[in-house]
This record gives sequence, structure tokens and C-alpha cells, in this order.
Amino acid sequence: MALFQSSTRTIPDAPAVPRHVAVIMDGNGRWAKQRFLPRVAGHQRGVETVREVVKACRELGVEYLTLFAFSSENWRRPADEVSFLMQLFLKMLEREVARLHENNIRLKIIGDRSRFDAQLGRHIVEAEQLTANNDGLTLTIAANYGGRWDIMQAAQAMLRDKPELCGSFSETELEPYLSMHYAPEPDLFIRTGGEQRISNFLLWQLAYTELYFTDTLWPAFDRAALEAAIHSYQARERRFGRTSEQLKEQSA
Ligand code: IPE
Ligand code: IPE
Ligand code: MG
Repeated sequence: MALFQSSTRTIPDAPAVPRHVAVIMDGNGRWAKQRFLPRVAGHQRGVETVREVVKACRELGVEYLTLFAFSSENWRRPADEVSFLMQLFLKMLEREVARLHENNIRLKIIGDRSRFDAQLGRHIVEAEQLTANNDGLTLTIAANYGGRWDIMQAAQAMLRDKPELCGSFSETELEPYLSMHYAPEPDLFIRTGGEQRISNFLLWQLAYTELYFTDTLWPAFDRAALEAAIHSYQARERRFGRTSEQLKEQSA
């Protein structure tokens, strides 16, 4: 049996506090530009927002927080910005992992690791191993992640394991191979920075996620902004394909 309820094959629970929040942390560059700073200053300030949002999620009872840090298309950026982001990721792993561990946080990294250098690859493995048995918040960082890559790699891995499925397979057979198999589907998606698009984030998993877009730039996103997103989520009617009347009958 699958570990978590699938939004397309069952009617999952709709918890009042989102169990899984997935975030596109966008707007770092514009935040810096508004202050006549280089774009990378925005990325640096964005790390502080990550700390604040992780803390707030733990306190609010969110169980899974997934942050999009670097997309499979972000390699198209200028080489010096890409290299700064890789360095920042490495520094974050070096400096923050002990504190995450103390706070009982399980850290997961999803994405294609084949383009990372050996040192970064090692830190990722070590950080995941150190925190693997923690049962507080599960913090996932999506790095060199793309939703299409995820579905493709899952199909390829599944067919390598089970060649007999070539020709016909079900969602249930594919799901264990997707990067986020260890988490329920996101209840709430947040994108900061004003753009209203998915930018190749969790394409499979966002099937029935509530989407929330805010103009606030990521470095300026704080606990109050997170609470505003959760309030918006709490006012939604999650129908999963049913009618509003059916929902009312059920709760009557
Ligand atoms: C998001 O901020 C961080 C990454 C994509 C790594 P941006 O760098 O995209 O900031 P804007 O969108 O240019 O303001
Ligand atoms: C999405 O932001 C990726 C991350 C936040 C890591 P982008 O800034 O790369 O997205 P687009 O290019 O505006 O769609
Ligand atoms: Mg952007």
C-alpha cells in the first residue's frame, strides 16, 4: 500500500494547518536591485528568510517544508551567479546542518546531483545521513531540480528495476520512484516575487495543491507573510473534483 494518500486515486485529508508547504523562493535579484546591491546580495539575504520560515513552520506544526533553491533551468544564468549559488549552498550545508540536526529536522535534497562537484555531493550525502532519523520537520531543498526531470528519472528507474512494466504501468507503480516519495503531496504552494507560474517545480505532486502567489520578494517574506498564506489556504474549499454540495453533505 502507498505510504501517502494520492489526490487522484483517493480523497486525501485536507488538514487545517497545511501538512506540506512547497515554496518557490523568488525575487532575490529584484530585492537586491531595489537597494542598488548586486543580485547575489539578495541570495545571501534570502538564506536568512529560509531560517525564519523553517522556524515558523516548526512552530506552526507544518510537517514538511520544500524549498526550490535552484532549478534545472537556472544553469542558464551568468556563470558567476551560478557559481555563487553553488558556493552558498555548500556553505549552508557546512554551517547549518548541525543546527538543523539539533532541532530534530530531517534534511532531504532532491534534484539531479550529477552536475554538482564532488565536495558538494559529499556534503549532501553526509547531511542526509546525519539527519535521516530525525522525526521533526522534514526540510527538502530542491537543487538542480526540474519537475520534468523528476518524472523522467522515475520512469527510467522503475523500468530498470521492473522491465516487465514496459508498455503498461500505473501511478502506484511509478510513485515510489519520484523524488518526493517520502512526503505527502503539498497542501499549499507559495510563490514569492509576483510571478504566477510553476517554473518546472513539482509538476506531478502539485496536482491538487492550493496555489498562493504573493508580490512580496523572498528576502522580505517573513513569519507574518507565511501566516497570511496559511490563512488564505484555510479559506479555500478543497473539492478534489467533487461538488461543493457533496462537501457540505459530508460535513453535515
Ligand atoms: C530566486 O530569486 C532565487 C533563484 C532562482 C536561485 P531570483 O534570483 O530569481 O530573483 P529575481 O526573480 O531575479 O528577482
Ligand atoms: C524559479 O525561479 C526557480 C527558483 C526559485 C529556484 P526563477 O526566477 O528561475 O523562475 P523564472 O525564470 O522567472 O520562471
Ligand atoms: Mg526569479
